[in-house]
Amino acid sequence: LEERVLFSYDAATFRQVPELVVMPRSEEDVIQTVQFARKYHIPISPRGAGTGMSGGAIPNPGAMIIGFERMNRIWEINQIEKYAVVEPGVLTGDLQEKVLEMGLFYPPDPSSYLVSTLGGNIAEGAGGLRCAKYGVTKNYVLGLRVVTMLGEVITTGALAEDPRFPDLTPLFIGSEGTLGIVTIIVLRLIKAPECTQTMLAFFPTGTDAAEAVSTILKERLLPSVMEFLDRMTLKAITGYVPLEIPEQAEAMLLIEVDGSEADIKEQLPLVMECCQGCQGFQMLQASEAKKRNRLWELRRSVSPSLARLASGKINEDVCVPRGEMIRLVEACQELSKHTGLMIPVYGHAADGNLHVNVMYDRNNQDQIDQAQFAVEQVFQKTLELGGTLSGEHGIGRTKRDYLPMQFSPYYIECFRQIKQVWDPEGLMNPGVMYPLENSAENT
Ligand code: MLT
Ligand code: ZN
Repeated sequence: LEERVLFSYDAATFRQVPELVVMPRSEEDVIQTVQFARKYHIPISPRGAGTGMSGGAIPNPGAMIIGFERMNRIWEINQIEKYAVVEPGVLTGDLQEKVLEMGLFYPPDPSSYLVSTLGGNIAEGAGGLRCAKYGVTKNYVLGLRVVTMLGEVITTGALAEDPRFPDLTPLFIGSEGTLGIVTIIVLRLIKAPECTQTMLAFFPTGTDAAEAVSTILKERLLPSVMEFLDRMTLKAITGYVPLEIPEQAEAMLLIEVDGSEADIKEQLPLVMECCQGCQGFQMLQASEAKKRNRLWELRRSVSPSLARLASGKINEDVCVPRGEMIRLVEACQELSKHTGLMIPVYGHAADGNLHVNVMYDRNNQDQIDQAQFAVEQVFQKTLELGGTLSGEHGIGRTKRDYLPMQFSPYYIECFRQIKQVWDPEGLMNPGVMYPLENSAENT
């Protein structure tokens, strides 16, 4: 039991101890596990490192976890064709480090690159820090091998046996373990940028920071990273980071520019000018890894610092058109006043993907209700602004019941029917993304 408890949680609030944990070492082990599960009608939840934010790796009661810790081999890195062939349990950061030694780059980083796995990133359709310039995980997946619930292996994209058929790769990216189990991944690699410069700027208001983001984009500059932190987030990290945060700062942008030396020489001063023009102050910049890491600590410390603020933390990852970002931040500040809850907002300003964190006391029913209300209001506002409920954390168990706010019954039925084709008995990660009438959840 003690060992199974380790597989009972992720970074969302759900907890469920699995009935069984299987840790395959090979695709053949996965096939046998699936056949066993089917024979005894046991639901399966695939699991990477358990860093997910929406409960996607939490099993149903009585279900089995397939953990990918032992399928963590990098089979090939092809420097000429620029691709890597990996197993799903490889840590994102490990691949990044290995390919960098060869002058190559795997850009996606859902902020958790040191601990999250490539299989998990694919299951959740992860986005992250470098999306605006480099795209998200799905832009790098060239092909997959997938074990279906029937115990068959199918190959997609670059691995497909017959390229004349439609490429099914995108179907599995972001499918949260509900359609099949990925056993091999082919990833696109690109040439590593020659150098990278990091800078940060503080702003007297959130509107100024949002304005700076718009100005930078209007000027057709393309930083690789543009991370936004609002006033409450800055308060939360104050004292836990190696830099002093100015009292009058209501927002901060962490910006990174990469490319050739000439690109950086050209772009960085222009980016700084844009920030200055929008009241940016106390700007810092760094090119050397150690100094850059110091600046990054302000961003990397956000999640753990927020966890100290309250016993309950709902971390949403809504996404709005970039020009509307500030309206969402302001709506969250209003909501915070209205509910009395702390609602810090931070995230990937470069692609409008904001992390709205609703903090509450888990032992206080009134706060639990207020938090639920706040989340619904945030979703409402996001949709009003033309956004979407999840930019990168997935739907999982936390957002499943809100799907009808964004999708019509017909649309949801289409999703259900796709699942029905791949998983007729409803054994693949039931309870996640969409509840199925015939899923094992209901048996
Ligand atoms: C992030 O961007 O930091 C993650 O998506 C969410 C988090 O850890 O708060
Ligand atoms: Zn994020």
